[in-house]
Amino acid sequence: MIVTDEDFIRGRTTEVVLHDGTRVHLRPIVPEDKDRLRAAFERLSPESRYRRFMSPMDELSDEMLAHLTEIDYVDHFAWAALAMDEPGEPGVGVARYVRLEDQPAVAEAAVTVVDDFQGRGLGTFLLDALGAVALENGIKTFSGYVLDGNKAIREVLEQVGVRFRYDSPGLVKVEVDLPARAEELRGSRAYEVLRAIARGEGPNLLRWGAFWTPSGPAAPAPGA
Ligand SMILES: CC(C)(COP(=O)(O)OP(=O)(O)OC[C@H]1O[C@@H](n2cnc3c(N)ncnc32)[C@H](O)[C@@H]1OP(=O)(O)O)[C@@H](O)C(=O)NCCC(=O)NCCS
Repeated sequence: MIVTDEDFIRGRTTEVVLHDGTRVHLRPIVPEDKDRLRAAFERLSPESRYRRFMSPMDELSDEMLAHLTEIDYVDHFAWAALAMDEPGEPGVGVARYVRLEDQPAVAEAAVTVVDDFQGRGLGTFLLDALGAVALENGIKTFSGYVLDGNKAIREVLEQVGVRFRYDSPGLVKVEVDLPARAEELRGSRAYEVLRAIARGEGPNLLRWGAFWTPSGPAAPAPGA
């Protein structure tokens, strides 16, 4: 049973404005998010569900919901993005990592954005924010598998410096070198903000859209 530290969550809760003006609350997922997660899953298209879980799924079981929301924030961490401009602030995006037991510097990572919020830079932002937390917790590599035809995640991964390896037909093994990505961003305001958020020292309001360029949302801000 995970007991959530309210100060830990409050310190890591930030209002984020994406490049098109969309406002989301970013915060670590909490056990009370089960209904939100279930609703977000129902809002996903069958194709997005398949791409995330790599099998056809109609619903999240109670066991899965517990696994996905009752986390220790060190070996298993998840950011939730909540739509600030919709009643009840529903969940519209999640990025999570789970550390591998036999390789503690490696974690499996996954990111999902509900279909009507895709293409606004949220997936890339969530993955960079997740990388910042992972680095704080001693993780150096994100690894995982994506479907070969999943162009959206491949675009997102390319922006955060992925290595692609083809393992089996239809499936691509991916790895992100987190220190290399941090090095690329180092010195930029974007990097400093992501690090501060990961440490619970971030701003209450982040105009992430100001960092966005067509070639990569997390490019250094001018003059940074
Ligand atoms: C993959 C996913 C998280 C991307 O989220 P997103 O919020 O749409 O991503 P972004 O808005 O940051 O887009 C990043 C890039 O991908 C591109 N992209 C987004 N959706 C795309 C699509 N359907 N087809 C092709 N490219 C796409 C964007 O154009 C953008 O590139 P650009 O900045 O050069 O224009 C989202 O599509 C998703 O949840 N898919 C279903 C679950 C999944 O596949 N997860 C990955 C496996 S764990």
